[in-house]
Amino acid sequence: MRTPLIAGNWKMNKTIGEAQALIEELRSLLPANESVEIAVCPPYVALTAAKAALAGSSIKLGAQNAHPEPKGAFTGEVSVTMLAGLVDYVIIGHSERRQLFGESDVFVNAKVRAALAVGLNPILCIGETLAENEAGQTEAVLERQLRDDLVNVSAESAARVTIAYEPIWAIGTGRAATAADAQQRIAFIRAQLRQKYGAVADSIRIQYGGSVTPANAEEILSQPDIDGALVGGASLKAADFAAIVRAALK
Ligand code: 13P
Repeated sequence: MRTPLIAGNWKMNKTIGEAQALIEELRSLLPANESVEIAVCPPYVALTAAKAALAGSSIKLGAQNAHPEPKGAFTGEVSVTMLAGLVDYVIIGHSERRQLFGESDVFVNAKVRAALAVGLNPILCIGETLAENEAGQTEAVLERQLRDDLVNVSAESAARVTIAYEPIWAIGTGRAATAADAQQRIAFIRAQLRQKYGAVADSIRIQYGGSVTPANAEEILSQPDIDGALVGGASLKAADFAAIVRAALK
């Protein structure tokens, strides 16, 4: 009922030329299929070239962030309005944005609502720090983030949101959550969404992110509540990203 989404978050990697080359390689390696959705999220400057390189492909395009105001005096920012029509997805509230750039849940919520309003599909990232995990606060953190980040998001709109559960201690560390732990956290997230949105929760995709590799993808992606992956480092190599997509197809 839910089509898994394998999305590559390239973060601050790849020049325009490198982005075009990686997309060419992905197009030759990725199997055309209807059971797994695939997306790449290059840096802003490469989005237009990436869109051209993806012409005629089923691979979707995403951005890594967006400002909620349509336009104005926000030096260095790119608005949801500017991204509408260019990308399908936009990553919102990534832990690097929250931790390195001080984004609050209130700001993240404004971005989610603004993205939905212009027709973009948000990939909302949530997840606990190592300290919160070790203090047994993971569920409380997830509950708070879901509540605050989805304020005034209707059930109808929520069906267009993908949640990415990314435990911060697993990002870029080579230490992924175990498949069983990821399943348990993601089932908890779905239960929270069910309280808020009822049956719609069963159609909301929830990805896992954090050190997903070709070696661990199959086990993680075979869990019943895990609807794909948000892949960082391994999305920068075409062969690795393609292997993760193949794992999702199994
Ligand atoms: P890594 O796959 O490099 O751990 O990054 C995960 C991530 O942050 C995706 O958004």
